[in-house]
Amino acid sequence: MRMRAAVLEEFGQPLVVQELDLAEPKAGEVLVRLVACGVCHTDMYTASGVDPSGYAPTVLGHEGAGVVEAIGEGVSDLAVGDHVVTLFSPQCRECVHCVSPKTNICLAIRDQQGQGHLPDGTTRLSRDGEPIRHFMGTSTFAEYTVMAQIALAKVSPEAPLDRACLFACGLSTGLGAAMYTAKVQEGATVVVFGAGMVGLGAVAGARLQGAERIVCVDLSDERLAMARHQGATDTLIGGADTVDRILEMTGGFGADYTIEATGLVSVMRQAVESARMGWGLATMCGVAGKGETLDIVPRLLITGRRVAGSSFGGVKGRDQVPLLVQRYLDGDIDVDAFLSHRITLDQVNDGFELMEAQDGIRSVIEFGS
Ligand SMILES: NC(=O)c1ccc[n+]([C@@H]2O[C@H](COP(=O)([O-])OP(=O)(O)OC[C@H]3O[C@@H](n4cnc5c(N)ncnc54)[C@H](O)[C@@H]3O)[C@@H](O)[C@H]2O)c1
Ligand SMILES: [Zn+2]
Ligand SMILES: [Zn+2]
Repeated sequence: MRMRAAVLEEFGQPLVVQELDLAEPKAGEVLVRLVACGVCHTDMYTASGVDPSGYAPTVLGHEGAGVVEAIGEGVSDLAVGDHVVTLFSPQCRECVHCVSPKTNICLAIRDQQGQGHLPDGTTRLSRDGEPIRHFMGTSTFAEYTVMAQIALAKVSPEAPLDRACLFACGLSTGLGAAMYTAKVQEGATVVVFGAGMVGLGAVAGARLQGAERIVCVDLSDERLAMARHQGATDTLIGGADTVDRILEMTGGFGADYTIEATGLVSVMRQAVESARMGWGLATMCGVAGKGETLDIVPRLLITGRRVAGSSFGGVKGRDQVPLLVQRYLDGDIDVDAFLSHRITLDQVNDGFELMEAQDGIRSVIEFGS
């Protein structure tokens, strides 16, 4: 079939919306008609050319939600008409990681996905007979995509897809960091660094876990107001004195849990240093620049602090994204607050500009609009 998609032709250049060919789903694959897709930092990061593993041409986009249009051979978990959220972090339910409750990092299609291929080593995307590589196994800046069935979460048809798409990356990453990686306990004190999509999700996740005190640190008053709306009990403008201020607020000890959602190694260090002696757990969500390292004074670890990293919030996508979406439907998470701008596929580059200007939390592409 022919469909329109936003192609990264050249690093550092605007994406070019154009018609491409999309082949039918093969065994274990699913054709999805995208209804909505968020614009995330990772798309912009890859488009910029800074990511050493990036390639072009490719169709970017990974925060998608849509409707199943066709299924390939052997697809048993999904049927035509199902509402789905795309998963850059798949869940095969069979590999050694999937069967362990300790991690959400599925091993099944990692290599092929990283190379821009579907699991069988080929692409369904092409232009004039030339294969075009997929991105993150999703390529959702497009009217349609073909994806592995293990990379799709079936969600309630009651969830509006322009909200559900946010669970494909940023929101689940934040919620999950608090709920599944840190496993914040009731009554705890939590500090969240950064109040973008991920940090705000972490604030909401800490609230859902029953945290008593949730401190959010950011540079923007506007974003800190959003953090209070999501459940932060205290807010701070970040700076060189952040660790001292958090220690002051916690009787000199630090917080039970700290969650970093900025991507800055200097802030990651603050997250470690403001975790409580004895049992404080510092969870890193941010993606740092290539070659950057996190400095930790080892004494901080010997005296009981722990450091964890969190990819996609530790969320096992097919099992847990539907549960998170259900909590939204139950009224536990205000997702509307994150949807700042609605744009068309042709305006995808405007989505990058809005993100660069920190205008709003998320721009969402609505297809067919
Ligand atoms: N681990 C994963 O699976 C995963 C998934 C999605 C995003 N991410 C990463 O998470 C990070 C956050 O993503 P986002 O979409 O929320 O980004 P964002 O840019 O919207 O938010 C980052 C926030 O950090 C704040 N900030 C900057 N400097 C600060 C400081 N010194 N102290 C406190 N706050 C400060 C900014 O004001 C901003 O509000 C990024 O690095 C992103 O790449 C990781
Ligand atoms: Zn993302
Ligand atoms: Zn797996």
